[in-house]
Parts: sequence; C-alpha cells; structure tokens
Amino acid sequence: MRSKSTRTDPVTIVDTETENLVRTTLARLRPHDAVLGEEEGGDDVPPDGVRWVVDPIDGTVNFLYGIPVYSVSVAAQVRGTSVAGAVVDVVGRRTYSAHVGGGAHVSADGKIPKPLRANPVDDLAMALMATGFGYDAARRREQGRLIGELLPRVRDVRRIGSAALDLCMVAAGLVDAHFEHGLSPWDWAAGSLVAAEAGAVVIVPSASSRSHHGAVTVACAPGIADEFHALLGEIGGLDPIP
Ligand code: IPD
Ligand code: CA
Ligand code: CA
Repeated sequence: MRSKSTRTDPVTIVDTETENLVRTTLARLRPHDAVLGEEEGGDDVPPDGVRWVVDPIDGTVNFLYGIPVYSVSVAAQVRGTSVAGAVVDVVGRRTYSAHVGGGAHVSADGKIPKPLRANPVDDLAMALMATGFGYDAARRREQGRLIGELLPRVRDVRRIGSAALDLCMVAAGLVDAHFEHGLSPWDWAAGSLVAAEAGAVVIVPSASSRSHHGAVTVACAPGIADEFHALLGEIGGLDPIP
C-alpha cells in the first residue's frame, strides 16, 4: 500500500477511487468549478467562483483497521470560505450537512433531516473534548504536551480518528469541542460549517493553509468558547505547531 506524508499516513485504493468518483460527478454537474482533493491535489483558492474541497476518506487508518468510524467530506467554498458542505458517516449511515444561514442537519435512511445544536455546557471542567494527531512525529510530541496540559482541566478527551466527524459531533452535541493542529482544508471544510451552523464557535486555518503550516482548528460549544480559547492561549495552543 502507498503512504503519503509519513510511513503511517496510508492511501488505499478506496481513497483514490472515491476521489475519482466525486471528481467525475462534479465534472458532470459543475464543469466550470475548481476542485481541491486530498489525493489528487488541484486548484488553489480561485479569486471568484466555487471551489469544491474533497476528503474521499477522512479516517483512513480506522478504515484500514476495520474501526467503523470514517467519513467522506465534500464542501463548496467561495473565496476560501465554506458555503455548503456535507460529511457522510459511512458506517453510521448518517449525513451531516449545512449551508450558510441554513442551520445544520443530520439525515439518516430517508428520515426527515434533524436540526443540530451544539451543547449548552458552560463549564470547561465538565466538557468532553475531541482531538486528533497528525502523522509527523515531532508534531505529535507537541500535540501530546498540549493534551497533557488539557486533561486535568476538562471532563475527558476522545481521539475518534476522523476530524470531519469530530466537527460534526460538536454540532450534534456528542462532544463539547474539537481542536487539532495541522489540519488541511479537506479535513475541516465541510465539518467546520456544520459545527458553526449548529451554533459552535469555530476557528479555521486560512483556506490555503495545509497541514505543514500547523495552524489550529477549533470548534467549541458557545458556553465554553471563551474559557477554552483562554486556556489554549495560556498553554500555547493557539499558535501553529511546526
Ligand atoms: C486524518 C483524520 C484524523 C486527524 C488527522 C487527519 P485522514 O485524516 O482526520 O482524525 O487526526 O490529522 O489527517 O488522513 O484519515 O484523511
Ligand atoms: Ca482527512
Ligand atoms: Ca483522507
């Protein structure tokens, strides 16, 4: 099997074939739009028009091991800002979706889509946090340090394995916040909009920023956002991790 940024960053045939399928569909339905996909790369942020941002499998390591938590993430951006997006929880057979000003919803098996709302939690010490770790060893060391600082200050921390689903879980109230350094646009483009439209307070890297820039992505239930941002600032978590 091929790997990408490091030996532990796998690319399966399903990653490449899924991206091909999404690209073929977009080329048919939206022939004039730009596309950025994790596996094939593609267009920088265009000065106008729509750019689609695609992660064909978010959670490839879970997929590889048979852990039933991975997703397909597709977003439409205008000038680098997400305006619509969907994250499919493949095994859970749920689709999270949002468009600007339209709220966030989850739909399952043909049922009426259910509106999503981030949790009303207001005490960081009671908050359940989700995070993730990049593939680079030095970055992981620093991410481990941040988790060490955080663990005594929150209820607990989850590492689910799909950043796009983490962000949707903030929207659904399944966790209270998600943060990770070094995500790329395909990781956050759809899920961050789902979280924001569900009332979460969201920080995303610039749309051109790739994982090697190490910038932080945060989505947080509104009642703990100030407290969490202050804590992140105190422990150096708002700065990029090289
Ligand atoms: C990864 C997942 C993981 C996150 C990593 C991402 P991939 O995406 O979202 O949860 O911690 O930083 O790279 O490689 O499975 O598409
Ligand atoms: Ca990803
Ligand atoms: Ca991927």
